[in-house]
Amino acid sequence: MRRPSWVPEGTDLDKPNAARVYDYYLGGSHNFEVDREMARKAIALWPELPQIMRSNRAFMRRAVTFLAERGVTRFLDIGSGIPTFGAVHEIARAIRPEAKVVYVDRDPVAVAHSRLLLEDDANSAVVQADLRDVEDLMARPEVTGLLAEGEPVAVLLVAVAHFVSDEEDPRKLIGVVRDALPAGSALALSHASLEGRPDQAEDHQKLYQRTPTPLTMRTHAQITAMFDGFELVEPGVVYLPQWRPDQPGTVGEHPERMTGVAGVGFRP
Ligand SMILES: C[S@@+](CC[C@H](N)C(=O)[O-])C[C@H]1O[C@@H](n2cnc3c(N)ncnc32)[C@H](O)[C@@H]1O
Repeated sequence: MRRPSWVPEGTDLDKPNAARVYDYYLGGSHNFEVDREMARKAIALWPELPQIMRSNRAFMRRAVTFLAERGVTRFLDIGSGIPTFGAVHEIARAIRPEAKVVYVDRDPVAVAHSRLLLEDDANSAVVQADLRDVEDLMARPEVTGLLAEGEPVAVLLVAVAHFVSDEEDPRKLIGVVRDALPAGSALALSHASLEGRPDQAEDHQKLYQRTPTPLTMRTHAQITAMFDGFELVEPGVVYLPQWRPDQPGTVGEHPERMTGVAGVGFRP
């Protein structure tokens, strides 16, 4: 197979990669058969998975659009995956052509793909760093450079904080990020939650405890507490499809089936 231009030399294309598997769920084209095979196995166990991922990505699109419409032009996307299908810089620049985005992910493969995809983009940067080592992340020159401009920065933590365990204390980590932000900055966060699907808790536990990246499901109250120091905009922390839907009809009768909640808040 010819190596596509967005694939760095040396990438092992015989192994599935979570960010490419995610791209497949979203309907993107940055994935290989080995990724699709893994996705199909997961979908067999949990058929709603692609719909959940798309619902999450649609929240991100609506949140970035909302923030750009409120005048935000700086974005720090932590846990970005590969910025392909519906990437933050594309969504933001549809409204604010001058928008700058710093993408951060801990996964070296996602970072390598992202760097190649964005190498000609002067207003975006890609950083390999881990939210759990937040001091290191916030000290990276791309991040300090973005913050030093003094403009409000929207921090995106979209479908990432559930990869941080209770012991690693995501609320505290987010507090460190918050304290570095200029006034008027924002947090957009989505997070897995089984509060509306207690019937599924046992299956999820089994599925995820076996993976190298276990998920910690949290309640609305725990996720709302992550917005400490931010003022939540309406409608607060709600199930993914309920956050400022494009049209009321798109919410569906069972938003809790998307097993995720989300919100956006501003730092006063
Ligand atoms: C489900 S994807 C979400 C991608 C994108 N934010 C979205 O919602 O469409 C989660 C991403 O977070 C990254 N990630 C997980 N834990 C992380 C951590 N502690 N620090 C930085 N990135 C992390 C993974 O490598 C993966 O690319």
